[in-house]
Formats: sequence, structure tokens, C-alpha cells
Amino acid sequence: MMWFTLLILIVFLFDVEGLEVLVCFPLPVKSLSILGQGAVRHLLEAGHDVTYITVYPFKTQAKNLRQIDISTNVALVANDETLTMGYVLQHKLERNHPYQIQEFATEAARMTLEHENVKKILENPNEHFDVVITDFMETEVYSGFSVLYNCPMIWLYSMGAHWQVLRLIDVGTNPAYDPDYLSPNMIPLTFEQRVEELWSRIYWQYLKTFYTQPREQKLYDTVFGPLVAKRERTLPDYEDIMFNSSLIFANEHDAVRNRPSTPQNFKYIGGFHIEEPVKPLPKDLQDLIDNSKHGVIYFSMGSFLKSNSLPRALIKEILQMFGELKQTVIWKFEDNSLQNVPKNVHIVNWAPQPSILAHPNVKMFISHGGQLSSLEAIHFGKPVIGIPVFFDQFTNIFKATRNGYALKVPLSQNLPKDLKPAINTFLTDDRFANKAKELSALYHDRLTKPGPALAYWVEYVVRTHGAPHLRSPALHVPLYQRLYLDLLALILIIISVLIFLLNRILRKGSSQNNGQKKRN
Ligand SMILES: *[C@@H]1O[C@H](CO)[C@@H](O)[C@H](O)[C@H]1NC(C)=O
Repeated sequence: MMWFTLLILIVFLFDVEGLEVLVCFPLPVKSLSILGQGAVRHLLEAGHDVTYITVYPFKTQAKNLRQIDISTNVALVANDETLTMGYVLQHKLERNHPYQIQEFATEAARMTLEHENVKKILENPNEHFDVVITDFMETEVYSGFSVLYNCPMIWLYSMGAHWQVLRLIDVGTNPAYDPDYLSPNMIPLTFEQRVEELWSRIYWQYLKTFYTQPREQKLYDTVFGPLVAKRERTLPDYEDIMFNSSLIFANEHDAVRNRPSTPQNFKYIGGFHIEEPVKPLPKDLQDLIDNSKHGVIYFSMGSFLKSNSLPRALIKEILQMFGELKQTVIWKFEDNSLQNVPKNVHIVNWAPQPSILAHPNVKMFISHGGQLSSLEAIHFGKPVIGIPVFFDQFTNIFKATRNGYALKVPLSQNLPKDLKPAINTFLTDDRFANKAKELSALYHDRLTKPGPALAYWVEYVVRTHGAPHLRSPALHVPLYQRLYLDLLALILIIISVLIFLLNRILRKGSSQNNGQKKRN
């Protein structure tokens, strides 16, 4: 009896030890894979077994990690000139088309689910997972994993709270105060902007309903239908599983203001991708930064955008402008083709960004405003000069300027001339740096670090069989009921009937009156 109790106790205590977790980061975007790697790292540290579907596998093999290499997905972005800074500059683009992004996400899903390496784990009847975590970007089709393995689904969203993910577990937020992540509009919105935001939601939904979702549905049916049948179950309707995830992890944190309210199963874990303590700098960079008397300016447009797609003349002008500064400039530039590089400018093809930003001698960060760079700037308390190019970068930089630690400089032929005064402002005015430090303190002031929080919530979801008690009751109330359109319709009907009846009575009355008049 005692042994039995002990056994039960052990089973209970170790209930969620060593989970089998499937982590899927299907998009050929390097920065997203940094998030994927962060999630994997924390899950491994918590003692779980991880199967990681990735476009950018870890170079070194860790214990309890199985990698499913889908690096051929890079074909989706390779040689796509429209995704370069040079193209955006030339065409003065201010926002991506929503269909372009839906297409991109659906195509990536097709390539992933039909990839031979992925097929191997899908088709293996002995494969089992306790929980699935997938990067969310515009498509819900990966919910099929959770149907196949009969386990809870968690989305990891690379951005903050936003209507497109909130609609998956609650209701999409109100466009009057939550502009689309592709939108150049920033709150507070004018009347026209509010109409624009409402329209962009309707348009997005139209594209989704009539173009993208039918393709996803087909993919879901053809890929998962036969596999689920093999496991002797029937495939649920796509619409039923699209909205059946247990939890969403958002890559943002409390220090950022103006976030819309979120349901209980929406968890902020922003910053979890940053390793702590940061890796030591390579010797040459360490010496360079240590010995820069006037401080260091770090310039990187992220891992996706390539500085070398800018026109050569513009690059030359930027170099010249940097050359006039007393500070050391570290520029992440992807090749070694630059000539006449000024003495104070140091070109690196690749930069250990967190380690650079962590150095107290680094005074400012010139950035494209990607979500990860924005988080790192706050994590290390560095002011930002933002040059947004596309996607959510405009929104991120806007938030950063709103929060008082950033200045925006538009990507244009005037870039060098516009950058100079921004740099000078930061060098002479401490307010931006102080604000960055203040936000950094806010950001670090939390109950648990984001990495362990991620592991905890994953275990929680498994322990509670999908955490149904955290789900929002709003999820299953249709829009017309939420807006009381049925009541409105009823009131309109009653009013019309009343008007109609009143009309009849009045007409009858007046025709009787007329009759009487005639007789008189
Ligand atoms: C929805 O998720 C819960 C919890 O993970 C699961 O029990 C249920 O079967 C899922 N529903 C469908 C239709 O797959």
C-alpha cells in the first residue's frame, strides 16, 4: 500500500516531466527562427523532449532535441527583390499588401506540410506529442498537428497583442484604437483613419474568407484527413479547430504602453529569446568597444534586410557622414565590398547583437525596428534611431517614439542628411537614453523571467488538458450577437410596423374627414 501511494505520488509529481513537445517555425525568416530557438532552449532546459521543425537548424546537436530540417523553404524568399531595402526605397513603399502576406504564409504552410522530412513524422503512427507550439503568422492550418496528435495547441506570436491573434482566442480588438500591424496609422486616430482601419479589417477578412481560407481548408483536408483516418478518428471541421488553441504567447511585454486588453490565455513573454547572461563578445569587438573614448553607435538593419541592397551612392554618403563623427560606428553590412571606409567605422558581416547592446559604452542603436531588435533595445536600455522599412516596423518604431526613447528617420535618398541631426540629438540630449533606461527597469521588473514563464505555461496547458477554464466566453458569440444586430433588426422591424400602422390609421382618418367635408 505504501509503495502504491509512493508510486502515485511520483507519478503525480512528475506528471509533466519530460513532455514531448513539437515546436514548428516554418517561415524562412531568420529573426523568427531566433524566437524558435529561444523556445526550444527553454523547453530543453526545463527537461522536455523537443522536436523542432525549422528552416534554420541549430548547428550543434543538443540532447533531447530532434531537428526536422525544412531549410528548402528559403526558396520562398530567395531572389525576391521586392523584399529588399533598395526596392522599398526606390518604390517609396509604405505598407505591404495584406494579400501578399496571406499568400506568403499559406504557401509556406503548403511547403512545410508537404516537405518530405515533415511527412516522415506526420506519417509515423507511433509518433506522439503532448503539446504543439507553432509560430503564428496569418494562417491557422498548423492546428492540424494538434488534431493529428490529439493534444493541445499553443501559438507563439512574434508581435504583441493584435486583433489578428486575439480573434483566435477571444474577439478581434476594436479598430478604433488598435490599428493593423501593417498600417501607417497611429493612435489616436482621426475619423478618416478610423474608417480606414475598419475597412482594412473588412478587406482582410474578405481576402481570407474567399481566397486564403479555402486553400488552407484544402491543405488541411488533404494533409491531415488521411492521417487522422489512419489513427481511426474523423477529421473535425477546419473552422472548429482554427479557433481551438489553448494559449497564445506574445512577444511583447508590459513596458510598452497602449496595448489592448487581452484574455486570460494570452501571455506576454517578450524577451525570452535573449540569452542571459549574454555571450561574451569576440575579442576584437570587445577591445574596439572598450577603447572607444567617445562611445559607440551600433547600426544594423536586422538579419532579413540587407544594407548592401541600398544604392551605392547612398552608402557612400552614409559612410562619409559617419566619418565626421567622433564616435566609433559598428555597421552590420553583409559583404566586404566597401571602399574608403573611414577610420572610426567598423564593418561586420554579422553582429552578436545582444552582446553589443549589453556593453555600457554603446550609446545608441540605429535599427530597422524589427520586433526582436526593439525588444533588445529595451532589454539593454538603449535609445533607438528607427528607419522602418516594411511589415510591423513602422508600428514598432512608432511605439518606441511614443515611449520616448526613439526617433524616426524615414528611408529615403535623404537618409544620411536626416540621420545626422538625429544622432546629434542623442549625443547632446540625455532624455532619450534616460527614457530607455527607465523602460528597461520596467521591463525587467517582473515576477518571473520570460523563459521559465514559457516553460511553465506549456506544462500548465498539458497538465490541465488544454486549459479550457482559461478560454474566453466571447470566442463563441457570433459578431451579430456581440453587436446586438439582431436586437437592432427587431427594433427596426417594430418601428417600421408602427409607422406603417400609424400611416394606415392616419390615412383612414383623413379620408373619413374628407368624406365628412364633402357632405357639409
Ligand atoms: C479542442 O481542444 C481541446 C483541448 O486541447 C480538445 O480536448 C478538443 O478535442 C479540441 N477540439 C477539437 C474539435 O479538436
